Amino acid sequence: MASLCQACSSSSATPLLLAKRMFSLASSPYIFTSRNKIPRHYSSFRASTSASASTSVCVDLKEMRSNELVDLEYSELNLKYKISEEVGHVRIRQHVNPLSSSFSKPAPIPVWDEVYKDSSLPLMVDIGSGSGRFLLWLAKKKAESRNYLGLEIRQKLVKRANFWVNELDLSNVHFIFANAMVSFEQLISSYPGPLEIVSILCPDPHFKKRHQKRRVVQKPLVNSIIQNLKPGGKIFVQSDVLEVAQDMRDQLDEESNALQHVDTVDTEEGWLMENPMGIRTEREIHAEFEGARIYRRLYHKTQLTT
Ligand SMILES: C[S@@+](CC[C@H](N)C(=O)[O-])C[C@H]1O[C@@H](n2cnc3c(N)ncnc32)[C@H](O)[C@@H]1O
Repeated sequence: MASLCQACSSSSATPLLLAKRMFSLASSPYIFTSRNKIPRHYSSFRASTSASASTSVCVDLKEMRSNELVDLEYSELNLKYKISEEVGHVRIRQHVNPLSSSFSKPAPIPVWDEVYKDSSLPLMVDIGSGSGRFLLWLAKKKAESRNYLGLEIRQKLVKRANFWVNELDLSNVHFIFANAMVSFEQLISSYPGPLEIVSILCPDPHFKKRHQKRRVVQKPLVNSIIQNLKPGGKIFVQSDVLEVAQDMRDQLDEESNALQHVDTVDTEEGWLMENPMGIRTEREIHAEFEGARIYRRLYHKTQLTT
């Protein structure tokens, strides 16, 4: 049925799961069109839906393109795309090989007091932060309570993200050009405040069997995250590729002495139904636009580990 929204048209949904989805959609920060998820905060779409929009989950709105949806979701940031000559045109290459020698050098540790207004605040680290807009949005929304750090292996994305940090005049978010597989431990263990959240969102899938060791979530990184995370701190992972999500899930489930999956939020087969951060990442928006499902897990650290 082409006119049904994504969440209603899943072939595998049982009545109970469907009811859970309908409830979650009604309280979701998004309005669901026949094809897209529109952020509720976008006022012109609010105006075009009735007062019952919170209960009517499938509304008939003009179809949009995936990039426009990303712009819409992040419209509050009001970012300029024409940026300095130094950064230049940001060409996105599909995948980088993090095991190549050009990415083996650890990133220099910044002077944290120069990077953040208050470097004693709890820290959220986003590994593979891409364009950085996800963290910029969080940093703007939750200023004062937390610092945000993006680790990204593509230098131009980092330059542009830091350009946006200055443009938005934010003093609680920063991006570092780093291979997280090489630099996470040194960087994060040097941060003066507690590590509160680590997110790894839609990491590059590296599908081929022989390339799977290029995936960012590997045992040493998992150990380092657990080691540095404060008790009660969270790890949020997601992917639109089931195999990649399952791989991350297996690795984190294996650490059951230190990590526990947070199941107090709506889940389906153990996967979170909504992104708990209040905003979707760019990859997430593109993937959902294409009709993909996002597989998410949220863990908290249960105890101090040595
Ligand atoms: C598919 S994109 C997802 C970006 C963003 N998290 C999102 O959901 O929109 C994966 C990102 O991870 C970055 N990346 C891949 N391997 C990395 C590594 N070892 N260290 C840091 N970043 C990495 C890539 O350059 C890319 O920007």
